Amino acid sequence: MLVKLYKKEGNIVQILSFPNETVEKGDYLLIEDPNGRKKLIIQVIDVQFANIPGILEELLRSLPDGGEVLQGENFDPLEIAPHITYIQDARLLRCKIRATMENGSLRPSSSWLPSRPRSTIKKLPIPALLKLAKIDGKLPIILGSTKDSTVLTIDASSLDGRLNIITGKKETGKSHLSKLLMLNLVRYGAAVVVFDLNGEYVSLGMTSDEKRNAYYNKIHVLTPSQNFKVTLKQLHLHVLLSILIHALHLPGTSTREFRRIWQSLKEKGSLNLYELGEAIRNWSCNHHVRDALFSRYYALVNSRFFTDNLAEAMLLKESLLKAKKEGGAIIINLRNTSSIDRQIVVEYVLGKLVELLTSWKLKAIFLFAEEAHLYLRETYWDDIVTRMRHFGIFTTFVTNQPDTIRENIYRQADNIFLLNFTNEHDLEAVSRAAKVDAETVKSIAKDLPPHQCLVLGKVVKDFPIVVQVKALDIKTMGETRLFFRDTN
Ligand SMILES: Nc1ncnc2c1ncn2[C@@H]1O[C@H](COP(=O)(O)OP(=O)(O)O)[C@@H](O)[C@H]1O
Ligand SMILES: [Mg+2]
Repeated sequence: MLVKLYKKEGNIVQILSFPNETVEKGDYLLIEDPNGRKKLIIQVIDVQFANIPGILEELLRSLPDGGEVLQGENFDPLEIAPHITYIQDARLLRCKIRATMENGSLRPSSSWLPSRPRSTIKKLPIPALLKLAKIDGKLPIILGSTKDSTVLTIDASSLDGRLNIITGKKETGKSHLSKLLMLNLVRYGAAVVVFDLNGEYVSLGMTSDEKRNAYYNKIHVLTPSQNFKVTLKQLHLHVLLSILIHALHLPGTSTREFRRIWQSLKEKGSLNLYELGEAIRNWSCNHHVRDALFSRYYALVNSRFFTDNLAEAMLLKESLLKAKKEGGAIIINLRNTSSIDRQIVVEYVLGKLVELLTSWKLKAIFLFAEEAHLYLRETYWDDIVTRMRHFGIFTTFVTNQPDTIRENIYRQADNIFLLNFTNEHDLEAVSRAAKVDAETVKSIAKDLPPHQCLVLGKVVKDFPIVVQVKALDIKTMGETRLFFRDTN
C-alpha cells in the first residue's frame, strides 16, 4: 500500500496516501513495526488534500532520487512532472489511534511511536478488526452491514445493564434501529417497555404485508385511556403522590391533606374516583387547599386513565409478568396523549416498574424512551442512570434533539448509536460523551447518509464502526403525515 506515516501528535497520526489508494473516513489501518511485533490500530477520521508545501517536500525526498530534480532548470529529463501531479493529488489522512497490539493482545494505549521510514501501513479490513476486537457474541444481533459488506453482529449482552443513546436528525432511521434492537432483545427472552411517543411501535407484530410475524404474541400495546386504565385501588399511595407532585405540581400543604383523605378512604374501603371527589368536597380544610386538590382531581378524571370499573382496568403487571416469562414488549402508546396525561402515565409506569423490580417480581427491564424530554420529569434523568439502573431498568434514549439529554447521561452512556447530524450545535451536544472523541463524532457523523449509523461504545469494544442498518420486515406506522401523499 502506498502510504507513509507523516506525523504523530498524541493519539492523532497523520498519514500520506497516494491517489490510487481508496481510503475513506471510518476505515481502519494497521501500522506495523518492521519486526511485526507491535502494531497500531488507527482509524481514518478525516481525509484532506496533502497540499501543504512541507508535506510535498517530504514526499519528494522520499522519492528514489530524493527530489534532486527540483533544484534543476525548467526542463524535465527525469519526467517528474507526472509525479508532481500525482503528488499534488496525495491525500493527508487524519487518523485516531484506537489500540496498540502487542503479542496478539490489544491495549488502548497510544504511547508507542512506530518508525517512520520502516513501519508499514496497510488497510485493516473490518472482518479482521471484528476478529481482533472479538466483536461477536453468544447472543448475536445483526445490526447491518459495513462498507465492505461485512455483516456487523453485536452481542445482546453488551446492551444488558447498559445505558444507550440513539440520536441523529429526523428521518435518519433512529426509531428503526431502536425497533431492531428491542425486537432482538425480545427474541432472546427479555422484557422490554417502550415509551412510544408517535404510536409507531404498535404494529411490530405485523409484517409489511400485514401478516402476523413471530413477535405477534409478544407485542402488547397499551394505549392509555383506551385499553390501559387503572383503578385507584390498584395504586400505591406513593405512586399517586408522585403523579400529583411531579406531573400535576400539587403544593406541599395540599399534598399532606391529600394523604389524610386517601388514608380515610382506604380505611373505609372506598378508594375510588367518585368517593375521592366527594371526600375532597366535604373535607374540612382551607379553601385554597380544596381548590388545589379539586383541580388535580379533575386532571386525573379528565385523563381517563383512571377508572372505577375493575373490568376495564388493564393490569400492567400482568403484561409485564407475561413478558418476563417468555420475552415480550409492552408498548406504551403515547400518541394523541396530551402532555399532562403523558406525564401521568409515565409516572405511573415507572413507579410500577420500580415496585415490581424492587420486590424481585421482575429481574430487569429494557426501557426504550423516544424523545424522553417530553414526558420524563427532571429528577428522573439522574435517577435513570443511578437508582433505576441499580434496580434493573436499562434505558435506551432515542432523540433527534441531542441537547435535551443531560450531559451526565452522555458521560455515563455505554453505547451511542449516532446517525447523521449536520448542525454543529447538535454535534457539539453528542461530542460531550466520554465514549467518543469530539473529532470523530463531528467528522464522521456529518457525512453519514440516512440509515447509516456510527456505532460507539461497548457493543463495538470501543472501535467506532459505521454500519448500514439492516431493513426490517415490519409494518411501519411512523410515516410523516403529508398533504399531497395520496393526491398523485
Ligand atoms: N436501515 C433501514 N433500512 C430500511 N429502511 C429504513 C431504515 N432505517 C429507517 N428506514 C425507514 O426510513 C424512514 C425513517 O426512519 P425512522 O426510523 O422513522 O427515522 P427517525 O426515527 O430517525 O425519524 C422509515 O420509513 C423507516 O422505515
Ligand atoms: Mg423516530
